[in-house]
Amino acid sequence: MTNKNLIDLEAMSVQQIDKLVKKAKKIMQSPADYRHACDGKILATLFYEPSTRTQMSFQTAMLKLGGRTIGFDNPMNSSVSKGENLKDTIAVISGYSDIIAIRHPTEGTAMAASLYSEVPVINCGDGGHLHPTQTLTDIVTLSCEKGRLDHLKIGVCGDLLNGRTVHSLIKALSKYEGNSFVLISTPELSVPIYIIDILEKNHCAYEISHNLADAVRDLDMLYMTRIQRERFGSEEEYQAQKNVFVLDKEKLDNAREDMIILHPLPRVNEITVEIDDDPRALYFKQAQYGMFGRMALILLLLQDEEFMLSARDTFISDYRCNNPKCITQSEKYLPRLSYEKLGMQMCDFCDKRID
Ligand code: NCD
Repeated sequence: MTNKNLIDLEAMSVQQIDKLVKKAKKIMQSPADYRHACDGKILATLFYEPSTRTQMSFQTAMLKLGGRTIGFDNPMNSSVSKGENLKDTIAVISGYSDIIAIRHPTEGTAMAASLYSEVPVINCGDGGHLHPTQTLTDIVTLSCEKGRLDHLKIGVCGDLLNGRTVHSLIKALSKYEGNSFVLISTPELSVPIYIIDILEKNHCAYEISHNLADAVRDLDMLYMTRIQRERFGSEEEYQAQKNVFVLDKEKLDNAREDMIILHPLPRVNEITVEIDDDPRALYFKQAQYGMFGRMALILLLLQDEEFMLSARDTFISDYRCNNPKCITQSEKYLPRLSYEKLGMQMCDFCDKRID
């Protein structure tokens, strides 16, 4: 085990995030200086769930640093299809590579993987839980395009319940002074309660809105997200939620000229194609910033001796997590790791209450 795993951005201080953003900007300015920075190093990308940007931007990031990549994007082509458990896969891959980037449909998988890895593990999305490197992408974009990460009014819209990008984004930006949030969703898809707890703990102002046309009026940034079809219990539930919030030209007319529109992508219908030509639409540029953010992250994890990520205090609970979406349900050998929050026992893998 190493203390260089990026599972949750909670492990990074504001100073460390700022250091990463600075590094990403340096790489953007003179990419040639970094062409051999990771010569001889190997990145393993283990994607148990579909991906375009996260996987390819990680691979491109490593190639641009002079390193190489191994991995799979369809676990059915690996020994996972023969029933190999996560622990064994990670123990083997960590002997082949210098750093592992993993995505999985089950909450807490990256955290579980980090217990059995000798090399840094990066969470590239664990079910509907977290997606820290998308947030680093968003933060690099904000810093380059708005010039600051604080005193921003941020609207987040769409599937706030299942959208892991939103959870990581709110967790990170609520640490910066003066940021406020407008949470735009249907009541069924509002943010999980633990995200509201974080906003309150960090004394962040927030409003709940069910009306995108109104909410858009006074924002510095609008973060649109798709409805996460694959995380619904039934197709009917998804059908009832899709296309409720669509950003079109008419609604955008209500927004400020300097508001920026971000989206982690993929877009389904929530932003009409006509918006793409609006100078406020930055989602394609954002995907490119993500590659530089990931280059910076790889460098800091592999080369900066001082760049240590903090781990929270945990203990072994008497109880088992009963969140059906948690990795502890399927990988039974995992220890019942938990931590305490406001007198409650929380699962260290999925952050849900267990007692
Ligand atoms: C997001 C994800 O996988 O959570 N995509 C991405 O990484 N850019 C968003 C999504 O799938 O909706």
